[in-house]
Amino acid sequence: MANIWAKKSLTQLMDDATAEKGGLKRSLGRMNLLMMGIGGIIGAGIFALSGTAAANYAGPAVTFSFILAGVACAFAGLCYAELASMIPIAGSAYTYAYATMGEFIAWIIGWDLILEYLFACSTVAVGWSGYMISFLDKFLGIQIPSYLAEAPIKYDTLTGDWTSTGAFINLPAVLVIAIISAILYRGVQASATVNNVIVAIKITVIALFILFGFKFINMENLTPYIPDNSGVWGKFGWSGIFRASGVIFFSYIGFDSVSTAAQEAKNPQKDMPFAILGSLFICTVIYIIFATVMTGMVSYKDLNVSAPVAVAIDAAGDSLTWLSPLVKIGAIAGLSSVILIMALAQSRIFFTMSHDGLLPKFFGKVHSKYKTPYLSTVVTGVMAALIGGVFPIDLLGELVSIGTLFAFAVVCLGVLFLRYKQPELKRPFKAPFFPVVPILGVLSAVGVMSFLPGDTWIRLFVWMALGLLIYYFYGKKNSKVGNE
Ligand code: ALA
Repeated sequence: MANIWAKKSLTQLMDDATAEKGGLKRSLGRMNLLMMGIGGIIGAGIFALSGTAAANYAGPAVTFSFILAGVACAFAGLCYAELASMIPIAGSAYTYAYATMGEFIAWIIGWDLILEYLFACSTVAVGWSGYMISFLDKFLGIQIPSYLAEAPIKYDTLTGDWTSTGAFINLPAVLVIAIISAILYRGVQASATVNNVIVAIKITVIALFILFGFKFINMENLTPYIPDNSGVWGKFGWSGIFRASGVIFFSYIGFDSVSTAAQEAKNPQKDMPFAILGSLFICTVIYIIFATVMTGMVSYKDLNVSAPVAVAIDAAGDSLTWLSPLVKIGAIAGLSSVILIMALAQSRIFFTMSHDGLLPKFFGKVHSKYKTPYLSTVVTGVMAALIGGVFPIDLLGELVSIGTLFAFAVVCLGVLFLRYKQPELKRPFKAPFFPVVPILGVLSAVGVMSFLPGDTWIRLFVWMALGLLIYYFYGKKNSKVGNE
């Protein structure tokens, strides 16, 4: 009988990861890893969702929402950093769960991470498509026919109704995923270099926006800083700040993806904590300043659009017109690197699960020349392209958030578990104020999850039920550790 609670020992984990056993190439230094974190974090959240959160829920106090979500992520980030330095193996939360809570929980988390990384890839590709279509139209006069520019189905988040849009497929979303998958196929070093260039572009554009937008801040737009609650829970006032933090939580997702590349890091014990926490800190600071400038330049009431930065620039008048195309380029670049990092993370999760026998062998094949998990990269690309080509963005975004939060809660639980059960293990990085940090990590993740709509919870359960079926019929029978 397969033992579904079997755990992988740390020695076994390290052994599995050695190059002789078909491991990946250790080529990533600490700056590459930090840039990976930033590359995966700054994207659709700040360039698209920040405006909606300010306009509908928090007003200028959306900065408080960024602080709240940032603090919740910091608890999880500290726990990720502890586990990533202890267990520097590809696979992230999935691997940590395998070492701490056994195979069954590991499978649940691995399956859940697909919701995070694979669906994030598709979500951000849809956002990328929107920015690209508008850039091509406005600045180059190229129009993509509407039947190739949006998802064929539409979902009304208020009524829960599905309707047809008449479109055929969101072609730009499919194409960007195809190009990025090709880069990932070629090698992690090449991918890291492309990511570094893209991150430099997006940070420069954000810096320009902050520097030049600063003098257009009008204090009237920031008064009152916390608009009165409208009488409905979550519509402005403090409840609105909390509600908005659930929405903009998406903008922080990505720092955890660094941990999926642990097996390709040159010095994971030290560099994992540095990159996870460093990227989270840098992005939190950027977000708070960015949101202050944006809501200062224009009334929050005008920001309920998919490209709020463009609205803020337009409000500044002619003197900032030159910044408008640059911001679009920055957003397109920013979103591209998120897709790249998410696809990279997903392929490494598939790779690790396949090595453990929980997914078919071909997911674990390493390219003889490029030393990448090329087949899992191709599968990730095809699936992400199909999902991104067909589904609308709002539906995908909430699924990504709930999947990520669930993983955060399990990672924090994993830290608690291991500290009590195996206190003697070597921990190159330790989350401070134990057990406060992991406990607050679990509570804040569950807290933010509770702000997500009931429909999203149902989808999470359906996805998990599907995962359990696959585990029952495939993983359990083929698991290496469980059948030892
Ligand atoms: N944090 C990433 C983004 O905002 C997922 O696009």
